[in-house]
Amino acid sequence: MAIERTLSIIKPDATRRNITGKIVDRLESAGLRVVAQKRLQLTQAQAEGFYAVHRERPFFNDLVSFMISGPVVVQVLEGENAVAKNREVMGATNPANADAGTIRKDFAESIEANSVHGSDSAENAAIEIAYFFAQTEIVG
Ligand code: PPS
Repeated sequence: MAIERTLSIIKPDATRRNITGKIVDRLESAGLRVVAQKRLQLTQAQAEGFYAVHRERPFFNDLVSFMISGPVVVQVLEGENAVAKNREVMGATNPANADAGTIRKDFAESIEANSVHGSDSAENAAIEIAYFFAQTEIVG
């Protein structure tokens, strides 16, 4: 199995509730390593750019507003099959549909305030990691 990297974001609903450590514990317990991390207040332009692929979707403005409503923690996670592993640990987008034991089932408040983001493919992971991190900031 290949060692991969993926981008994770701990969203404003989670930083507001001071549960970033609980979320990182879930990630590390699943075998993912945090090889880069920073806490940011996203600007509207940064959030719009990050979610540009969703620009035409009806929830785009709400999603951007939510993502700038408080600090986020952006992370690069590394591990075997990291993209799929992170998605598995996160659970379904809507916490109502998330499996028991997943981050979203246990912590998310709603489909909008769903606590975490994870890249959906290795190709997008590379793009999303480069959006937030310089190579020198990633220490494996
Ligand atoms: S996914 O995970 O990309 O397959 O999910 P998707 O349904 O395509 O959603 C993409 C991102 O949009 C967020 N989302 C919403 N935000 C606000 N309101 C509503 N109704 C809504 N529906 C989806 C969802 O949390 C995804 O955010 P990220 O950060 O990519 O997980």
